[in-house]
Amino acid sequence: MSDPSVYAPEAIDAYDLVSSMLSPGAGLVAWVSAHRPLAGQVVLDLGAGTGVSSFALADAGAQVVAVDASRPSLDLLESRCRDRKIDVVEADFRDIQLNSTFDIITLSRNTFFLAQSHDEKIALLRVIERHLKPEGAAFLDCTDPAEFLRAGGDATSVTYPLGRDRMVTITQTADRASQAIMSIFLVQSASTLTAFHEMATWATLPEIRLMARMAGLEVTGVNGSYAGEDYDARSREMLVVLERK
Ligand SMILES: C[S@@+](CC[C@H](N)C(=O)[O-])C[C@H]1O[C@@H](n2cnc3c(N)ncnc32)[C@H](O)[C@@H]1O
Repeated sequence: MSDPSVYAPEAIDAYDLVSSMLSPGAGLVAWVSAHRPLAGQVVLDLGAGTGVSSFALADAGAQVVAVDASRPSLDLLESRCRDRKIDVVEADFRDIQLNSTFDIITLSRNTFFLAQSHDEKIALLRVIERHLKPEGAAFLDCTDPAEFLRAGGDATSVTYPLGRDRMVTITQTADRASQAIMSIFLVQSASTLTAFHEMATWATLPEIRLMARMAGLEVTGVNGSYAGEDYDARSREMLVVLERK
């Protein structure tokens, strides 16, 4: 897979460690639940990766369809599913066509920004519109672009411990003009080093509103944290709720 937003197969174990550390699971469930009940609902989790978001949604009582373009990620997800109600689909979320509609669609941890161009984002929003039930809602978990602007084009680098014997350094740069974000992840132990990267393109809230309208959707809520509180200038996460027009 040459798409730079889909991690190389040899990096999946390292990606999975990082993903579990950054875990949006509990927060995602709290945020979605503030808008829609999850128990008994059918949820489409786009960009499910190794399952952090899908497991949290399933553990809250939802029946989940987990979509990702990375087979190695989905293999890991399936190996950990146990008796959770999760179906797995290997597909590109920019043009997927499933024969069902969903109460809830989730894109966690900047997955929306992994559709790189405006055209790709609009295609992805059209996919969301086609797969939402009439009363359904979609949830885009995005880093607030103000965070990238605050960095002023400088690289930011943060190191976190990963368990007892590893650490990850995440280095990120964001280009104001093109709105491109490059993230490099270095996972290190005393004897191993694995690197992977992610390319993304942010969209501002007015851009998301406009693109959503073009796809037949409407932004019906903007929250500033996983607790579902109102979005404000201090918010680091710009959580966008979409419904069909
Ligand atoms: C940031 S991760 C989010 C993973 C998980 N939902 C979480 O919260 O930890 C984004 C995922 O989107 C997948 N992805 C990127 N582009 C994709 C595409 N065009 N179609 C399907 N999956 C894609 C990547 O393989 C990756 O697993």
